[in-house]
Amino acid sequence: MHQRALRLPLLLLPAAVLAACGGGATDTAATDAAPRALQAGAMARAADTSAAADASANISSNVGANTSANTSASAATSTNNGTTANGAITAAVLVQSPPPVVLAPVPNADGASLTFSTAGTVDTSNPFFQPFGNGRSCASCHQPGNGWTITPAGLTARFNSSAGLDPVFRPVDGAVAPNAPVATLDQKRLAYSMLLTKGLIRVGLPMPANAEFTLVKADDPYHYASAAELSLFRRPLPSTNLPFNASVMWDGRETLTDATSAICIKDVRPARCFAPLDTDLRHQANSAVRGHAEAAQDLTADQQRQIAAFEQTLFTAQSSATAAGSLSDAGALGGPQLLSQQGFYFGINDPQSGDYRTGAPFNRNVMNLYAAWRNLAPPAPPAPPPAGRGQPAPVPPAPSTQNQARAAIARGEQIFNNKPFNVVGVAGFNNELRLPLQRATCATCHNAPNVGSHSVARLFNTGTAAANLRTPDLPLYTLRNNATGEVIETSDPGSAMESGKWSDIGRFKTPGLRGLAARAPYFHNGSQRRIEDVVRFYDTRFRIGFSPQEAADLAAFLKAL
Ligand code: HEC
Ligand code: HEC
Repeated sequence: MHQRALRLPLLLLPAAVLAACGGGATDTAATDAAPRALQAGAMARAADTSAAADASANISSNVGANTSANTSASAATSTNNGTTANGAITAAVLVQSPPPVVLAPVPNADGASLTFSTAGTVDTSNPFFQPFGNGRSCASCHQPGNGWTITPAGLTARFNSSAGLDPVFRPVDGAVAPNAPVATLDQKRLAYSMLLTKGLIRVGLPMPANAEFTLVKADDPYHYASAAELSLFRRPLPSTNLPFNASVMWDGRETLTDATSAICIKDVRPARCFAPLDTDLRHQANSAVRGHAEAAQDLTADQQRQIAAFEQTLFTAQSSATAAGSLSDAGALGGPQLLSQQGFYFGINDPQSGDYRTGAPFNRNVMNLYAAWRNLAPPAPPAPPPAGRGQPAPVPPAPSTQNQARAAIARGEQIFNNKPFNVVGVAGFNNELRLPLQRATCATCHNAPNVGSHSVARLFNTGTAAANLRTPDLPLYTLRNNATGEVIETSDPGSAMESGKWSDIGRFKTPGLRGLAARAPYFHNGSQRRIEDVVRFYDTRFRIGFSPQEAADLAAFLKAL
């Protein structure tokens, strides 16, 4: 069985599309990545109006609001182009077709992000955009204009424009508890407060059978959680950049094991082997339709295949930064198109066993996007003044604001790769990996080159669900070890909900870091509002001792991913 690898049938189609629109197919190092990622249909729009504003308008009106009025049954009978079988255009059908998703830059607080599709366009007739069951589609929670997840700002806009009726607002897992009252607008605002404030979905999971631990207390502010169903508030992971994932879902519960597979974590007993990513994604899509969308029936095998295939065409990254400008300018390698060509396979650059294919030792220079910005030349000096006695020597000009911002991003990349700190008390790391690794850098866990996901299915407890970070809006669960009587308080047991293992409590997957600026807030429970807060979390958690300059540079880098 082959390992997960990026297949790259790309560039041909996008280049052809571009050529048809009059762009040059050879200017891949050009400063503006946007035109290369535009779909043909977007070209005309982009020509007469601001591409970015246009895209966000299109995207914010996408799917959710349009599908809310329709049942899945009527949508299923519509055709893609808005015509009925006999060719008559009906108003109802026109409303049902989601508007085209324009692959143009989407502004965010730190610049703009961009999605690149290896298929050239986003096919909104894919079942990913179809409403099922309760009217939700995948796009209800994986919005093209919000980094393929949902954000508090985007959700608030949808809540206000639909009076809380957009299908993302459904009691099953949109509300703080499925039995929360939602009759009035005020009740809806309370019931959907976790979505509106932090973009959190309630993942309801039962205590695992045969767990090594018992639930002794569920302190749930919404009076719902019990051993039958814990409420775990989690951010939707982006449904983009998926080919770089070795684990699917925060707790890895859709990372299917397969004893006959060759996709195995090295050097562990008993062996841990996994199905290919595509299998996980098909299974995950079906779980999502049955769970989030409350569909009465499974997706067909063909619908599962179509969704998984569609998801794997998408690559999203920040494409420009406020002060630094285009992130693929002056030799920099940011933006989504180069990301789509980034190699990845299970075990690439593994910190524990070395690279699974090449055998090369772990290389902590994981991020290599902004090396060209390390020593940017200041702008050309002005012409020397006419020679004359007593003239002061010309002062060399300061680097431009743009070059200063670029240099900060380049320094931040070096900090990410190289600034060492001691990793202490991280389950999955300190107890399962080689000792020398325990003086780590950000790149040790975020080890997949130029992406930062963890390249094998290995989850870590960095303390993000620990009791000391519990906020009053989150439940707190008290768990007791059946064998030792030891007690842990946590807002989310993480992968222990799947394995039932005490040692798995609080362990989550290390997500990829591309397109971060489009998808605040961060961590599985949205506890960190801004990228600066994430940097502060790590500084405190691992006593790193960042100087203010280092923290700012690291944040500037993370915003440029
Ligand atoms: C109601 C909101 C909602 C809907 C609808 C939804 N998702 Fe999700 N999705 C989530 C949440 C929340 C998570 C993370 C849950 C977890 O890890 O426990 C997630 C995770 C995922 C992941 C995992 C990504 C990764 O990096 O591991 C994929 C893939 C995904 N969803 C695809 C889909 C597809 C395909 C559909 C439609 C068939 C869909 N989702 C519908 C909320 C939603
Ligand atoms: C011990 C392993 C480990 C180390 C070291 C580590 N991370 Fe992480 N990182 C994780 C895990 C696991 C998560 C997910 C935690 C969660 O959501 O609960 C994560 C999440 C993140 C996220 C949030 C991503 C998102 O989508 O919400 C960012 C940003 C991040 N890390 C940056 C860094 C930086 C910067 C450093 C170095 C200062 C670093 N990480 C060091 C394991 C690690």
